Amino acid sequence: MKLIVPAILASLAFALPATAQEGDPDKGKKEFKRCRACHAIASDTEDFVKGGKTGPNLYGVIGRAAGSVEGFKYSTGLVEMGANGLVWDEANLLEYIANPGKFIGSKSKMTPQKVKKGPDLAAYLASFSEGSSSDSDAAAEETSD
Ligand code: HEC
Repeated sequence: MKLIVPAILASLAFALPATAQEGDPDKGKKEFKRCRACHAIASDTEDFVKGGKTGPNLYGVIGRAAGSVEGFKYSTGLVEMGANGLVWDEANLLEYIANPGKFIGSKSKMTPQKVKKGPDLAAYLASFSEGSSSDSDAAAEETSD
């Protein structure tokens, strides 16, 4: 009897979430100060954060295709990644901002950003996305300073 099938082991491994860290949007709001010089957060009807226009509006960025804000002149690398199916989630967004050029594999218009509380920042941005999965997994809450 061959009970242990590698595929089962593989699927078990995938069942464990790779990004178990839950961010705190309130803390993330402070982190966003360092993004504001270049990015606003504004819906059609409301300005949530007044910010610079060097970067695209980040309203609803989580769950949105990369490089897809109409009228914004992105680097071609980012637009291509979006066209090829890249959709921002909390994990890939953090990877991107840490080193945009490396992430898109060519020159980016955005310089690398150092953030202290990445998951919090990502959770904050996610709070501006419709149907965002703000699954209240409060158990993961931590005060780390
Ligand atoms: C110095 C200006 C500047 C700062 C500061 C900055 N960005 Fe950007 N950001 C840009 C530019 C310019 C782009 C467009 C990049 C491109 O076209 O390659 C961009 C693109 C992005 C994108 C991709 C958006 C999309 O529509 O695909 C995300 C996400 C993003 N920035 C998040 C952040 C976050 C979070 C911070 C703060 C930690 C931040 N940025 C700080 C200039 C900036």
